[in-house]
Amino acid sequence: MFVNTSFSFIKRIANIIGKNYNNSGLLPCQKWTNFCTSSCLNSSIGDEYLGSSSRQSGFTPRRAVLYVPASEQNKLEKLKGLAVDCAVMDCEDGVSINRKDVARENIRMALDSLSAPGVTDLAVRINAMDSGIAADDLAVIYKASNLPKTVMLPKVNSKGDLHLFSEMFVDILKTRQCPDYKAKLVIFVESAIGLLNLRDILAEGIELSKTVPFHLEGVVFGSDDFCADIGASRTEDAKELLYARQKVVLTAKAFELQAVDLVHINFRDLESLEKQSLEGAGMGFTGKQVIHPSQVYIVQKAFSPSADKVEWAQELIKAFEDHERLGKGAMTFRGSMIDMPLVLQARNILRLVNMSDDATQR
Ligand code: COA
Ligand code: MG
Repeated sequence: MFVNTSFSFIKRIANIIGKNYNNSGLLPCQKWTNFCTSSCLNSSIGDEYLGSSSRQSGFTPRRAVLYVPASEQNKLEKLKGLAVDCAVMDCEDGVSINRKDVARENIRMALDSLSAPGVTDLAVRINAMDSGIAADDLAVIYKASNLPKTVMLPKVNSKGDLHLFSEMFVDILKTRQCPDYKAKLVIFVESAIGLLNLRDILAEGIELSKTVPFHLEGVVFGSDDFCADIGASRTEDAKELLYARQKVVLTAKAFELQAVDLVHINFRDLESLEKQSLEGAGMGFTGKQVIHPSQVYIVQKAFSPSADKVEWAQELIKAFEDHERLGKGAMTFRGSMIDMPLVLQARNILRLVNMSDDATQR
């Protein structure tokens, strides 16, 4: 497995990122050397890139989570040429109330016929449990022959919301013959009460994942709804959200889930997007919400392991495997004692790299 030299391996990673950049068709290509010499990526190593699913098969990276208002057919069509970890066909706040039916129908058709080879996770965001229209969303979307891989559930304020969703979800699946289907579930925390309840919500989500056909994988911080809820005003450096962001990361990571950071709403300002993305990655978020295709590359790069980290991971795993073959006990690597969590973190980094590779080769 590790026949590549460090150099060629790193070059391959950089090429992957460069390829993503090109595929967006929105920004000029960046040479791999820029990526390799970039010093501004995550400074810590391992699970923080990935979340819980890193420990499981079927890992779905969600470095950039791109919203696409599903009422807008031209934007859905745009997905054919984009390379992005996660594209969310949105029925919720990106769609006006009088266009919800169009959005649902577009999603149903897109699930069955839209070819978006550069999108790793073509997800669906339904309306919130208290909207009164979530069941209508599911009723239309789950008529598709290809069921959504990921369902996103906004405005989860309590365990009760998750229970309601579970019941609704089980009911809708009764209309289908799909015994092996298990959706990936990503929930949103976007209110003061939701944030206070987040620990209970996630614990419940993990319990429900054992019996209901979904698997809780992540939490998205709905920053603008959260600001509105607590009466905060958004500032350039988002200092009013610092506590909430840290709490979201802390709680998600306690349950080994992905944590997706706030939207950078001033989408034309890519410099400040990069700054905020790196800050989020440094705080431990695994990804970030985006609203425009031009934001994808910068965000995915910020939430990718740096070339240094990839090299570290590759060499550590090689040393570990050599060590195991010899049947020795504790091992040291680059002067530090290596334990199993570090080995797992190194494997996660390499898995993320391989996932990115798959996503661009499809
Ligand atoms: N998904 C897919 N394609 C998108 C897109 C998105 N989120 N945002 C823009 N595009 C497309 C446009 O349709 C346009 O395509 P074209 O060149 O083929 O006409 C191209 O990218 C360039 O778009 P641009 O003209 O720069 O932006 P815009 O004025 O069309 O759209 C927004 C700006 C903010 C309205 C748009 O990006 C958007 O709708 N974002 C999502 C907002 C959302 O969902 N909010 C709720 C969740 S926070
Ligand atoms: Mg919201």
